[in-house]
Amino acid sequence: MTTWDTVVRGGKIVSATEVYEADIGIKDGVVAAIGRDLGPCQTIVDARGLLVLPGGVDTHVHLEQTGLGPEMCDNWESGTASAAAGGTTTVVCFAWQPKGGSLAAITADYHVKARQARVDYTFHLTVTDPTPEVLEVELPRLIAEGCRSVKVFMTYDGVRLDDRQALRVLAAARRNEALVCVHAENHDLIAWLTEQLVSANLTTPKFHAYAKPMIAEREAVYRIISLAEALDVPIQIFHVSGAQSAEEIARAQARGLKVWGETCIHYLTLTAEDLDRPGFEGAKFIFGPPARTEADQEALWGYLRRGIIEVVSSDHSPTRFDDPKGKKFAGDPAPFNKVPNGIPGLAARLPVLFTEGVSKGRIDLPTFVRLTSTNPAKLFGLFPQKGSLAVGSDADFILWDAEKSVVLTNELMHHGGDYTPYEGYQTQGYPVATYLRGRAIFDGRTVTGPAGGGRFIARPPYPMIAPLERFPTPFNAVDGRLV
Ligand code: URP
Ligand code: ZN
Ligand code: ZN
Repeated sequence: MTTWDTVVRGGKIVSATEVYEADIGIKDGVVAAIGRDLGPCQTIVDARGLLVLPGGVDTHVHLEQTGLGPEMCDNWESGTASAAAGGTTTVVCFAWQPKGGSLAAITADYHVKARQARVDYTFHLTVTDPTPEVLEVELPRLIAEGCRSVKVFMTYDGVRLDDRQALRVLAAARRNEALVCVHAENHDLIAWLTEQLVSANLTTPKFHAYAKPMIAEREAVYRIISLAEALDVPIQIFHVSGAQSAEEIARAQARGLKVWGETCIHYLTLTAEDLDRPGFEGAKFIFGPPARTEADQEALWGYLRRGIIEVVSSDHSPTRFDDPKGKKFAGDPAPFNKVPNGIPGLAARLPVLFTEGVSKGRIDLPTFVRLTSTNPAKLFGLFPQKGSLAVGSDADFILWDAEKSVVLTNELMHHGGDYTPYEGYQTQGYPVATYLRGRAIFDGRTVTGPAGGGRFIARPPYPMIAPLERFPTPFNAVDGRLV
């Protein structure tokens, strides 16, 4: 009689706090035991000489969003193949309300599309039009069904909310126990700078960074923190690009607020100079907020080490480069403000962060696991099912070769795109295999996980995002009562 379906034998397990040698016994897709010399099993996974990491949790992934003009080149099938190839076993993607449309209908549609997923998944709810129907009927139901995070934009025509609308969403999130994630940039400053740049005929990709300076981000970060503080609502600031925004988050945390920060792998590796590559190549690096400076990168590493920024995501938001539905939507070349924002990053996130972080001595192994798996799982209510290799957790893991050097190519990304911003980048450290709930979904070369093998994870309320019950005056404005 076998005790375990699978035993992962002889590897070094990395948790959020330590590195230790042990075997993992898996039963019915769940970690059932951790110890030495675990007994009879059907399958042995030989992990000698390898690290065993909890599967990556990427809480910022755009797949198969439609109706935006340019076309996203990853659907659920190709996007989650890319996730598996990079060691990510759970993604959080965006059910994106069309302006003037229903959030509930698009979420129902997104559930159908997501049935093609090869890894586990859940949804953020992007609110672009906070009508009473959305705030009072749709959001409460969708959050109760397990989509326990809401995204709002402070910039981009057609999706951005003004402050009053943002306050309404913050209040709805507080009432319904959801985390609000924010794209924070000052819209009017960006719009005005863009007009000025275009009038001066300064329109090549490099001017994307001129139109979206750090000050536009810093101001919006401070503003949304203030609005959330006034209503006592926990928030996460998405894609923190540099020192000044991180500083605002640190100040908020020092005031005791539940304000968390996410940065992305590209802010740690690319700079605004990448926008100035020859010809139209810079368009491959147009995303918002833009990449900043090397000094910003060094500052971000410090904030990651100190735990002020807790999450490194991909913000995978891919369009093809050499394609009239992608980066060349408005022509070749096109002015920077007509080029779709966003780059691919799902498969590159872990290998590049490992190389830049662990292999170059900037962070240790447990910090790597915290930033890529445990912290995002905790923050978004997926822990301990995800983000951990403990008894009772899903057996999602990566066999990781810390020495493996791979030169990244677009083909290795296993996505639907025609480029990677990391073409030619040499890693030190790479996934040798990825497992989802005890089953191999990537063998180091080929994605073996079937489309449809992923499951939706409904997220019930969790204590981390409970409000503080602290208001600037003795008036709880969300519930309309004196406190
Ligand atoms: O440029 C980006 N980041 N595109 C994706 C959408 C977003 O803002 O997250
Ligand atoms: Zn954003
Ligand atoms: Zn995004």
